[in-house]
Amino acid sequence: MKIAWQEDPEYVSYVEDLLETQEVQKLGEFVQHRHSTRLEHSISVSYNSYKLAKRFNGDAKACARAGLLHDLFYYDWRTTKFDEGTHAYVHPRIACKNAEKLTELNDMEKDIIIKHMFGATIAPPRYKESYIVTMVDKYCAVQEASLPMSERIKHRWNTTFKKKQSV
Ligand SMILES: [Fe+2]
Ligand SMILES: [Fe+2]
Repeated sequence: MKIAWQEDPEYVSYVEDLLETQEVQKLGEFVQHRHSTRLEHSISVSYNSYKLAKRFNGDAKACARAGLLHDLFYYDWRTTKFDEGTHAYVHPRIACKNAEKLTELNDMEKDIIIKHMFGATIAPPRYKESYIVTMVDKYCAVQEASLPMSERIKHRWNTTFKKKQSV
């Protein structure tokens, strides 16, 4: 079964060269938010940011590409610590360096990646697109971490509702 982004030719045209790389595919080996891999999370942030950018007349291509690369790092953030600063501060910089090895980034794409932890880090985004990606990133993180719980609530609701109906 194809998922929504795979059936959006414009979106695919923006990211297919990146998706084909081993560096991006390797993100599938890391758990990101309890119930998602880092690759699933990155695609989700990328596609949802792309759609929002289109709705708000932003640069959809920059959101798609930088959104996909915003977490391009290869360590377990729950266990790895850095002397240079917190995970929130360090990993966007590592992701940006890794991304620059894969593709040329413009100023907006760099800002999107570096500032995607805005809120946990201080420097504010310079572009509307960076605000889109940082908001979508937080939204996706919550969704991915709590998905089974919302499924459980749905199940409980259905069974309770059905029981009441059959009484
Ligand atoms: Fe991140
Ligand atoms: Fe993220």
